[in-house]
Amino acid sequence: AFDVRLASSGRVVHVAATQTVVAALAAAGVEVPTSCEQGVCGTCLTRVLEGTPDHRDLYLTEEEQAAGDQFLPCCSRAKGGLLVLDL
Ligand code: FES
Repeated sequence: AFDVRLASSGRVVHVAATQTVVAALAAAGVEVPTSCEQGVCGTCLTRVLEGTPDHRDLYLTEEEQAAGDQFLPCCSRAKGGLLVLDL
């Protein structure tokens, strides 16, 4: 489990081990547009301002994943305790 912080509001949302980032945000009233929810379409692409994503998608290239400044929150997670998202 880990937390995500929304850069715009400073709000922190906890992501349980059993839920996706998209689901945790939706439960907190923050809607991220999704389509496939399997990491293939890129619809949910979100910028990462701080922290290290644990990429689980099939959409970003290896280089894009390594850059660590964006991730697919329908399936990807965090390495470490906190991601700050451009939301
Ligand atoms: Fe398709 Fe996240 S909804 S990659």
